[in-house]
Amino acid sequence: MNRRYRKTIIAGNWKMNMTPSQTKSFAEEFKPLLVKPCTCEVVICVPFVDIYTAIRSFRGSRVSIGAQNMHELPSGAYTGEISADMLSDLGVKYVIIGHSERRQYYAETDIGVNLKVLAALENNLRPIVCVGESLEQRERELTMDQISYQVRSALYNVPMEKVRRIVFAYEPLWAIGTGKTATAQQAGQVCGSIRAMIRSLYDAKTARAVSILYGGSMNEKNAAELLAQPDVDGGLIGGASLKPESFSKIIKLAQ
Ligand code: PGA
Repeated sequence: MNRRYRKTIIAGNWKMNMTPSQTKSFAEEFKPLLVKPCTCEVVICVPFVDIYTAIRSFRGSRVSIGAQNMHELPSGAYTGEISADMLSDLGVKYVIIGHSERRQYYAETDIGVNLKVLAALENNLRPIVCVGESLEQRERELTMDQISYQVRSALYNVPMEKVRRIVFAYEPLWAIGTGKTATAQQAGQVCGSIRAMIRSLYDAKTARAVSILYGGSMNEKNAAELLAQPDVDGGLIGGASLKPESFSKIIKLAQ
């Protein structure tokens, strides 16, 4: 973390969990656990149907609500899809883009991710862009090639003044939901190289201002070590964000 230049962000990714009623109960239990003053940004990315309840339940607290996906176009005949404008109008502040589960199960491509990033920025949403390598890629020493390709594609046509609105999340596929975490050193190294890529595409000042998170089995036991890395500016947390106690402990560590 380096609070002097950029925000520390602890973001929960609820995935396909929690009903609106459960969202309300979570908020009631979680809000008193948030220590004040909150020096890091707390975000919870909830399923679409929970957004309205989440925004109402967290009103007046320091928690921002995010979505987990969006469509790249503003409107039209795309049954079942949700646009950036709809999310923004509801009060959503962040949106996860290109999560590996979407890349894997819904054929999300790097071109699609880039179009979504541009649409999110256009609608005042902060995209949380997920990048990460598979176990096979890591074993074949292709990690940096994969990350570089994903980062460069995501940033295509993004103007310099908007880059700092983007949050990157380094999520090695082999660490998601597996209980296997990248070592702090592995996470720090990849997050550092993402920053170096941004520096080479834009400039040092811009790269310094971008928050880069680690995600993949982060919990209250391993968070401190991961967050101690200078280029790890927070976490994108799946499983542990579903439990108010665990999630608030990670936030405390990030403070
Ligand atoms: P996990 O999920 O913390 O349950 O591994 C992280 C993510 O997929 O964003």
